[in-house]
Amino acid sequence: MPATTLDQLVSLCKRRGFVFPSSEIYGGLQGVFDWGPLGVELKNNIIASWWRTNVYERDDMEGLDAAILMNRLTWRYSGHEETFNDPLVDCRDCKSRWRADHIKGRCPNCGSTNLTEPRPFNMMFKTAVGPVADADSFAYLRPETAQGIFVNFGNVLATSSRKLPFGIAQVGKAFRNEINPRNFLFRVREFEQMEIEYFVMPGTEDEWHQRWLEDRLAWWESIGVPRERIRIYDVPPDELAHYSKRTFDLMYDYPTLGYEEVEGIASRTDYDLGSHSRDQEMLNLTARTNPNRDSTARLTFYDPESKRHVVPFVIEPSAGVGRCFLAVLAEAYDEQMVKAPPPERIGAVTDALEAFLKSVGRSDKLAPETRDALLERGQAILAGAPETMPQIETLLAMPGADQIELGKKLRGQAQGPIDEYFRTVLHLKPHLAPIRVAVFPLKRNHEGLVAMAQDIRRSIQTGGFFRTVYDDTGAIGRLYRRQDEIGTPYCVTVDFQSLDDGTVTVRDRDTMQQVRIPASEVRAYVSRSS
Ligand code: GAP
Repeated sequence: MPATTLDQLVSLCKRRGFVFPSSEIYGGLQGVFDWGPLGVELKNNIIASWWRTNVYERDDMEGLDAAILMNRLTWRYSGHEETFNDPLVDCRDCKSRWRADHIKGRCPNCGSTNLTEPRPFNMMFKTAVGPVADADSFAYLRPETAQGIFVNFGNVLATSSRKLPFGIAQVGKAFRNEINPRNFLFRVREFEQMEIEYFVMPGTEDEWHQRWLEDRLAWWESIGVPRERIRIYDVPPDELAHYSKRTFDLMYDYPTLGYEEVEGIASRTDYDLGSHSRDQEMLNLTARTNPNRDSTARLTFYDPESKRHVVPFVIEPSAGVGRCFLAVLAEAYDEQMVKAPPPERIGAVTDALEAFLKSVGRSDKLAPETRDALLERGQAILAGAPETMPQIETLLAMPGADQIELGKKLRGQAQGPIDEYFRTVLHLKPHLAPIRVAVFPLKRNHEGLVAMAQDIRRSIQTGGFFRTVYDDTGAIGRLYRRQDEIGTPYCVTVDFQSLDDGTVTVRDRDTMQQVRIPASEVRAYVSRSS
């Protein structure tokens, strides 16, 4: 079963080092996160999969990596200076600030309806370029990667001899000064986008829009996010961005959040290339653009058949890496009862949980919403026990839980049964797993076992196709659990039989079944799935 709450994912990411708050030792920076050792592997594998599918496996794509800093005129003619705004309101009572369209007229902090009128707030970050910070020296940190592609359209066309239709793909950082960053990686101020700008002949854009929709859904399926978990939102005309003729938002059913946008697929007409072109009056544009007296180029394609220059229309599939990471984790997440704990062990844990919740209810150290959140989660765990027992880890990682003394006792009571009778497992597609293979010696003090295990690790890792690790820091059962929780598809164990006949066991993460095969075949065995 996929994750049922966002907290399960937050807790896993924290305890296993997928994601850390940025500059945490100084109190963090709101809406900014760092990728830890496992997070960076999973994130890189997602990006690699996207790049392979959209660049290598197609005949009509080129890649690009444009700079984050761009001439600020880019953002004037793209329309961002004028329109990249969110409606900001202040609460007159508690002085907090909110995005008007997120709060339904009531301050989420103090409940007041005494709010200011919404006013536009531009979300682009500014920075100074060069030693003198004055009105002319600033640049924006890009709020999307797309514009780097549009302004390079002529360069790519001239150097790649492409014909329409073709596309340019790019992955990179984007920055938005979100008024209320929230929901972990979902809405942040620094994030990465995977964007394609696909250039087509005017008149063919509707057909390509549909084809991209299907292609993108197939990719989501290939990374473990099935079609039935995504809703297609055909954005109504009054909600469309200023450049869009039609947009399909792919809405993933996130735990806790419900259906939210994970990718947008926009039909952007000739707005972008037209906006960045000089001599617009000669280009027969369909889009309304601001006249451009600064650009030095006409971003057109010479069509040999009609013998005329056309401004291509654009289809843009644009996905956020962090939102994709969350969707992949949510789908892969599973808490399984491996065998039923005896009633007395369940009783000891539920007693400790009840005592903890009583203490939460009585505590005057906790803010009301923190207390209510803990109580709500704790009651749900009690009601679903024993299956829900592993969620005690998530409960104890929630804000405020560390202020309750009885939390330590609950952890002490719960840890043993959780380790013994349950496992958290990430059923990640093998090509996304941060670690493909873990190799263990049955005994860590045995020279022969250790040497053979390390040899196997080296032999699999050589060639660098996927990450392989050696681990001897616990009993085998515990090592399996640790690897299950981070999604490692295969665990190889070297035991005494291995020293006699050169075979090892390979355990499958999902079925927990083991096969015994010659050590020399392990590399081929773990390479077969993707
Ligand atoms: N070039 C088009 C564009 O940027 P967008 O809908 O604003 O369109 C595309 O952003 C994707 O980027 C979204 O579907 C989402 O996945 C991601 N994204 C946007 N803002 C984000 C934020 N503040 N935090 C995390 N991801 C974000």
